[in-house]
Amino acid sequence: METLCLVLIILGALIMANNIVMYFFFAKNMHDIIFSGKKKDEALLSVGMALLVFFLIGYILVGIFADRYIMTSLILFFGSIYVSVMLLITSKLIFSSKKKSIEIASVLIGVIDARDPNLNGHSQCVKNVAMLLYSKLPLPIRMSINPVSLEFAALLHDIGKLGVPESILNKPAKLDDEEWKIMKEHPKFGVKILEPISSFNQISNWILYHHERIDGKGYYGIKENDIPLAAKILAIADTYSAITMRRSYKDPRTHEDAIKIIKDVAGTQLDKSLVDVFVAIPKDELQKCIPEQVKY
Ligand SMILES: [Fe+2]
Repeated sequence: METLCLVLIILGALIMANNIVMYFFFAKNMHDIIFSGKKKDEALLSVGMALLVFFLIGYILVGIFADRYIMTSLILFFGSIYVSVMLLITSKLIFSSKKKSIEIASVLIGVIDARDPNLNGHSQCVKNVAMLLYSKLPLPIRMSINPVSLEFAALLHDIGKLGVPESILNKPAKLDDEEWKIMKEHPKFGVKILEPISSFNQISNWILYHHERIDGKGYYGIKENDIPLAAKILAIADTYSAITMRRSYKDPRTHEDAIKIIKDVAGTQLDKSLVDVFVAIPKDELQKCIPEQVKY
């Protein structure tokens, strides 16, 4: 009986240690634009972690020093399983609510895009391509960018075009200098539109700088490492989508054309290391994530 009690306590401690790892990733994944990021919520997450560590120490102390009763051992063992189950349920619920939020945002953006023949399906395309590129990046880079935030930023990157007159958006010819000046304001308009949603502040710089170039010749003259990594990912997805989709002033170009152009501007317009990852993505994988209405 003594041995059974010890085994239950050791198993419980191992499960509790696993819970701490699970909780670490759970808390890390909460740092996105849906989670408010408020200090109160951060404090709650820290309290949760502190309690789990406290329980694990308790398991170890009971295992080593206390008299081992079967009831105590069973409670400790099933207690750790209970924590695992609750963590799994909470993670699943949060994941599904985030998925629903993204679906709602996708529908709204689809409606906004549909009013502009030059944008129809573009935001969805940029989102899909950006997330595909993200999935191909090395783990340490992926760890530095929250995928839910990136998905929202990609979907909403051109929301500022709502502030650009339709006569400019739909012009079936090249824009003149004055029109370009207004068009170049769209990242700023986007930030302004999203300003009332405080948790979106996290991604506002990604949206603001999605037209920046590595050589500093982009919309607002930001260059190299001053451009957020997520904005560099958006820029590649945006460029690919812009080249391959039909616009009122140009015919669509092929996947091969897009890859050639993207390679040519690596290091000047687009980030070279991200381009290297992007051009290695097989054509059919990229084509699969292009929305039907954008396909040529
Ligand atoms: Fe844009």
